[in-house]
Amino acid sequence: MNTSTMAAEVVRVDLGPRSYDIVIGDGELAHIAKHLGPHLARPRVALISDETVAGLYLDRVGQALDAAGISRADFIVPPGEASKSFPELERLVDGLLAAGIERDDTIIALGGGVIGDLAGFAASILRRGARFIQLPTTLLAQVDSAVGGKTGINSRHGKNLIGSFHQPRLVLIDTSTLETLDRRQLRAGYAEIVKYAAMTDAAFFAWLEAHGAALLAGDAPARRHAIARCCRIKADIVARDEREAGERALLNLGHTFAHAIEAAAAKGGDVIHGEAVAVGLRLAFALSARLGMCPDEDVRRVERHLAACGLPTRLADLAGDFAPATLIAAMEQDKKRQAGAPVFVLARGIGRAVLSRDVGLSDVAAVLTDGP
Ligand code: NAD
Ligand code: GLY
Repeated sequence: MNTSTMAAEVVRVDLGPRSYDIVIGDGELAHIAKHLGPHLARPRVALISDETVAGLYLDRVGQALDAAGISRADFIVPPGEASKSFPELERLVDGLLAAGIERDDTIIALGGGVIGDLAGFAASILRRGARFIQLPTTLLAQVDSAVGGKTGINSRHGKNLIGSFHQPRLVLIDTSTLETLDRRQLRAGYAEIVKYAAMTDAAFFAWLEAHGAALLAGDAPARRHAIARCCRIKADIVARDEREAGERALLNLGHTFAHAIEAAAAKGGDVIHGEAVAVGLRLAFALSARLGMCPDEDVRRVERHLAACGLPTRLADLAGDFAPATLIAAMEQDKKRQAGAPVFVLARGIGRAVLSRDVGLSDVAAVLTDGP
């Protein structure tokens, strides 16, 4: 079936008075006014985007808002991770205040995870918390960062170290925006899809093995199925553990390694988040197998599927210097953050992730040597 003729699909994030819908459809940006209606206290929004996304989609969104009589102020930041910074946050919040944006106005993030994280954090601190809506335009943002209310910026001490929980009132996913996303970014978002399956849903993993290539090639129903499945998995986890007291940490499968890889890459490499996650997933499964928890065949299956989709799986596949000692030093920053005990997400097999505070750094070092 042509997805543009299909009704939008709705996934509910059940958080009591802060519950909201994730609406997933093809071409939904053109109907944004209809979706926003129930969430606006008055017909006025601040729209935050980056230069690339604004060039592609601001007219479409702007025309739909104009037609509905919704006034707006636009704030456009440079594309890229560097915009998740104190200087950019300060410029943005100052601009919002100068434009007279009030708590009852609505701040809208139009873009990938960088824009969602920056705009969400600005919304959470503006006049002690303004209304916020996410319009994610990357695969990564559609399956992960736009959902769940984590917002923030980076510090010179590491990624995402300054932030807040601030739930959006709506996440509106227009899957047609993926048509303009470049292949590298699309594959990076796909790594997060593999993460969900490897974490909690073996049947979904098998589905990805059968349909992942088609999804990446542009098969719209496959994309929509996978996006909805990931949003459902995340919505259920966030509903049970909004503030990451326990279970939500499973969503970090592969990320202890990935964050260390990104920290090392920031000093002279070229790695985007999803690529680091892909390598981190293989390392998390390899570590689990080394600890006798996970069958070797599942490590090979995870690696085979990521590689078949064009994702890196080994440190040697990445551009940068990823010496084990450098990566372990970066993980120590994670350790400090988590009450003195390094927390790893391990797996008893595909779809069976578990948290562990009992991993020796010698075992971590051994898998970082990139053995079989
Ligand atoms: P991004 O926002 O930098 O977007 C990647 C690139 O794609 C940018 O250059 C952007 O301009 C461009 N782009 C975006 N949409 C496009 C489209 N439809 N067509 C063409 N180009 C487009 O990166 P990302 O991968 O979306 O997000 C990564 C960020 O998300 C990281 O900062 C990461 O820490 C964060 N993140 C947050 C959470 C969370 O829960 N808050 C979860 C995962 C990741
Ligand atoms: N991306 C991990 C989380 O939202 O908890």
